[in-house]
Amino acid sequence: MNISVIGSINMDLVYRVPHIVKEGETLHSSSHSIHYGGKGANQAITASQLGANVSFIGKVGKDAFGNQAKGNLENNGVLTAAIKEEGSTGQAIIQVSDSGENSIVLFPGANFLVTPDQIDQEYNVIRNSDVLLLQLEIPLESVEKAIQVAANFEKIIILNPAPAKELPDSLLKKVSLLTPNETELALLTGIEPSSEEKLMEACKFLLGKGVRTVIVTLGSKGAFYINDKEHGWVEAIKVDAVDTTGAGDAFNGALAVAICRGDSLGEAVKNAAEIAAYVVTKMGAQPEFPESIKRLMT
Ligand code: RIB
Repeated sequence: MNISVIGSINMDLVYRVPHIVKEGETLHSSSHSIHYGGKGANQAITASQLGANVSFIGKVGKDAFGNQAKGNLENNGVLTAAIKEEGSTGQAIIQVSDSGENSIVLFPGANFLVTPDQIDQEYNVIRNSDVLLLQLEIPLESVEKAIQVAANFEKIIILNPAPAKELPDSLLKKVSLLTPNETELALLTGIEPSSEEKLMEACKFLLGKGVRTVIVTLGSKGAFYINDKEHGWVEAIKVDAVDTTGAGDAFNGALAVAICRGDSLGEAVKNAAEIAAYVVTKMGAQPEFPESIKRLMT
């Protein structure tokens, strides 16, 4: 199972608050902690912990955070030869409320210095993998370049369109699996998935653009998947939420592993939902998975 991940690497500065701060409000935080983060890194580490060979293409800053974040990927078994150093490492200022919900201010830093040229230089990483997994925390032109390279080599392309951004049709038609949440789905399609019919309509809109499979993550409502042969629901797993940060990333990392090893679509989504549910029970976006969780994927 060879997976290449192209995306962001951040340090997450996490503040526990009674509720997400409102405009003009000053709030006291009851705790502060620093965690490894970045959607790309979170997804890569999940996939690596679940047994895949993962290579990362990205950028960290020439600073202490950069060294630590790269070291963390290495300690988790991710190959980092294609991670370059420039500028300052990306940071996320994250408020986590007592109910486990979050709100994030992102400073992209070095992540926005990942260029199409860097992708070109590392095209062998993509060529040697079965699946390419990406998100939208690096410049869109670099995402487009990576998808073009992967499409040329006929790789499976999984795009997690987060944070939400409009995407050109030329990109969507090359995507094998697109994994929006409700907000991202609405932005990509102009259709609010406020009912099951609307959800279906929005997904069909994306299938009409050439996306092969759409998987929508719906938080406590579970996940919905659809392609031109099948569709179905996976129920959400009920857990006591401590911190929802990184749940979507764990879902995507686990999905990539499940797809890579040939699970059926329904099984892959079910397994990914279980892995994501575990992450919600821990602080930080990159918990260490216990053997009982890893076994789900073996
Ligand atoms: O998806 C969660 C991640 O988004 C955090 O780790 C943070 O770094 C932001 O990139």
